[in-house]
Amino acid sequence: MTSIAFIGAGRLGSALARALARRGVDVTAVASRGRASADALAVTLPGCQSLPIDEAARAELVFLTVPDDDIGPLAARIAWSAGQQVVHCSGATDIAVLEPAARAGALVGGFHPLQIFSDPVRAVDLIAGSTVTIEAGAPVLEARLRELADVLDMRVLRLPAGARALYHGGASFAASLLLSMLREALQAWGAIGIAEEDALQALLPLAHGTLAAAAQKGLAGALSGPVSRGDMGVVQRHLRAMEALGPSHVALYRQLSVGQVELARESGRLNHERLAAMQRLIDGG
Ligand SMILES: NC(=O)c1ccc[n+]([C@@H]2O[C@H](COP(=O)([O-])OP(=O)(O)OC[C@H]3O[C@@H](n4cnc5c(N)ncnc54)[C@H](OP(=O)(O)O)[C@@H]3O)[C@@H](O)[C@H]2O)c1
Repeated sequence: MTSIAFIGAGRLGSALARALARRGVDVTAVASRGRASADALAVTLPGCQSLPIDEAARAELVFLTVPDDDIGPLAARIAWSAGQQVVHCSGATDIAVLEPAARAGALVGGFHPLQIFSDPVRAVDLIAGSTVTIEAGAPVLEARLRELADVLDMRVLRLPAGARALYHGGASFAASLLLSMLREALQAWGAIGIAEEDALQALLPLAHGTLAAAAQKGLAGALSGPVSRGDMGVVQRHLRAMEALGPSHVALYRQLSVGQVELARESGRLNHERLAAMQRLIDGG
């Protein structure tokens, strides 16, 4: 059995370690900057010890689940051994940051779960069915990480080297930037006196419904709303209302609506003339 350690017992490290333990994979050691979070995590994992960082780092497979800015400095201050496997879980940080471990003969890689880990306990349930992006130079490490993904019931994507900024930036549109969209909605509704709490209660089921439709029918198939119907008058009224709210709001509404016209084109529901007229309206022409 391979010994596995997590250095970093925060949201992601705790969720991943718990998910592995739940599926019968022993996490043998955990460590963190302070001992409290590592101690709290270790007691939830069978046979796991909370250790100082340098001791935990002797495991055969070590996950560095610390904030991105800390991965490089941490990797640089540990005395790694040849043959160890050292992996970080960031989507945005290049694997090259693990160079100090590679120089010592360790195999280095990335294991980035495409999921939100806001709460380490509830997030455990989100892991199965999610995708993990794996990057590993050595086939033996790639095989090991694929094996863990398999145990966790995760789908695997392979990331080409040097692609992380676009990969992670792109993924933001499906994650934190969705929150920016909801914030826009709250601001518009706030201007007509709807309280944030009521607004979220009303809007989150709508957002869930939209995502469920996209999962079932794809983006073009799920498209609804005035652009999908070619309802120029409604779009015109939306634009006027957003203009009154402020220039940044109408600019964002126009920008996002361009993508809607493209989806409406893909869906084949509107003819060429209608699409062109809608595009002109959105462009402000
Ligand atoms: N959260 C997510 O949704 C998510 C999703 C995908 C990927 N990730 C990636 O997962 C990694 C961890 O993110 P997170 O959200 O789990 O962070 P986090 O909740 O802030 O947890 C960070 C953990 O690292 C420990 N730590 C901080 N600096 C350290 C150092 N220099 N040495 C040792 N331990 C240190 C902290 O220790 P203390 O507990 O003692 O303070 C804490 O346990 C990042 O690379 C992030 O990009 C996160």
